[in-house]
Amino acid sequence: METVIVAIDGPSGTGKSSTSKAVAAKLGLSYLDTGAQYRAITWWMISNGVDVDDADAVANAAAKPVIVSGTDPARPTITVDGADAGGPIRTEEVTSKVSAVSAVPEVRALITELQRTIAKNAEGGIVVEGRDIGTTVLPDADLKIFLTASPEARAARRSGELKGVDVAATQQALIKRDAADSSRKTSPLAKADDAVEVDTTDLTLDQVIECVVTLVEEKRTAAK
Ligand code: DC
Repeated sequence: METVIVAIDGPSGTGKSSTSKAVAAKLGLSYLDTGAQYRAITWWMISNGVDVDDADAVANAAAKPVIVSGTDPARPTITVDGADAGGPIRTEEVTSKVSAVSAVPEVRALITELQRTIAKNAEGGIVVEGRDIGTTVLPDADLKIFLTASPEARAARRSGELKGVDVAATQQALIKRDAADSSRKTSPLAKADDAVEVDTTDLTLDQVIECVVTLVEEKRTAAK
């Protein structure tokens, strides 16, 4: 197998980003955080006064921002119209509005196209993390992983990342966002039939990384 495409999906707080970046770095692959792209377009909508609850307004503006993702796992970057968006896309305001923007079909069509182009041009291969990568964006990926974890473990991890944020409130916000992401009409958060499900609740990050690296290596050996 000359190039390898790995899709890693699952809800937030399952260790998706840390795992995807580490697996890509270990295997010398590119890395794409598709959640960052949905956050970037959401940030642009907010900054440009578009009402994110007005799906028509979001759809009409969707093609305006130019979103560019840097795919080095050691230093992933994202810019919107040339401006660094790495910080602004992680604010609570963006987090609370990203599900509404990413549910708009025109937004998904544009971002999906961008993701496919990036994956096709990634020399050697790529690890792409998101919610619908195995089901919709890259249904022919060489390996599909679906990460899960208990709501308690996910909230505890997210609160740790955000430092000092209340765990119960984080858990409520995560559950709300998952429900929105899983119930939207266009390519919801879902496990592909041929994805390997890994429950990370009782695993360390290193164990999850090891597990995914082994699965990729097995695929590569089988394809020889
Ligand atoms: O992974 P994240 O929390 O940064 O993702 C932010 C949001 O983007 C998430 O709530 C749903 C949306 N998203 C999506 O709809 N499809 C993807 N492939 C990735 C993220």
